[in-house]
Amino acid sequence: MKAEMIRLLRESKDYISGQELCDRFQVSRTAIWKIINQLKEEGYVIEAKQNKGYRLMESPDSMEAYELESRICTKWAGRKVSYKRETGSTNIDCKQLAGQGAPHGTLAVAEMQVSGRGRRGRNWQSPAGTSIYMSLLCRPDFPPEKAPMLTLVMGLSVAQAVGGYTDLPAKIKWPNDVVVNGKKICGILTEMEMGLETKEIQYLVIGVGINVGNREFPEPLQGIATSLYLESGEQDGKILRAVLVQHVMEAFEKNYELFLETLDLSFLQESYNVLLVNQDAAVKVLDPKGEYTGVARGIDQDGDLLVETEDKTVKKVYAGEVSVRGLYGYAE
Ligand code: BTN
Repeated sequence: MKAEMIRLLRESKDYISGQELCDRFQVSRTAIWKIINQLKEEGYVIEAKQNKGYRLMESPDSMEAYELESRICTKWAGRKVSYKRETGSTNIDCKQLAGQGAPHGTLAVAEMQVSGRGRRGRNWQSPAGTSIYMSLLCRPDFPPEKAPMLTLVMGLSVAQAVGGYTDLPAKIKWPNDVVVNGKKICGILTEMEMGLETKEIQYLVIGVGINVGNREFPEPLQGIATSLYLESGEQDGKILRAVLVQHVMEAFEKNYELFLETLDLSFLQESYNVLLVNQDAAVKVLDPKGEYTGVARGIDQDGDLLVETEDKTVKKVYAGEVSVRGLYGYAE
């Protein structure tokens, strides 16, 4: 009801009377008044005028389930949100929800993580109040070998969402980091649960961390990581995390459905390559069998990076096995 009430207030151009809210939600005036007061305490600026009613003037930078649910209008992606103020890892929360039968598209979010997990066993710094930590549950019925491509689909969706919401030049560093001005603002960790006997995907958890309001990064990340706040010079509170999550969910749902049509990236390859940070630029491929340099020529429909070497042969670089760097640094 809280989510519905925030949505109603947000969408209304004019004041909404207390009576209208009572009728709509079938509760007493006192109940409405209590919720309005709670919302005010949580940072919503709500103007109350005698004989006119209530009007929402401003929303806080909240990641609570009701704030997210009041904004996300997709068919399934992020329609059901589970919020924790503090957690170990939202990927683990999401797996637990999956075990309890949560539907496709359920989103686990947290204000902070104490054991945020990154790829290759690294940890993911997850302080409170600055970033997005979320994990999306997917229950696909395609074969497991297709699953890694969904990480690229999410990377593309985050880059599109950041670009759409903030106007920052968000790009993709293959396969799925999102960078702004050559530094990382988003990491994605996808985990898969298989049926023991069926060898089919039981579910996938796509964990996404986006640096939004971080003002600084600890030493090892300086020069590599950045935040939307640092890159945009926006004042605090200007970039609302819930709005960005909404954009990501909308983009992901659209892209996922395009992916399902062919079970590869045929329909997404072009949008992806336009956003690829190294497109047609020199890259260094950190292949364990031997490093080499070449020019990145975009991804193919399977999500592999095509790298043209000096002798003009085009090599397919498989995500997961090999890292790619710009010639002069992490991304470019
Ligand atoms: C990377 O190493 O680039 C991937 C980082 C993924 C971090 C996110 S934050 C939300 C979700 N929960 C986790 O523990 N990790 C992912």
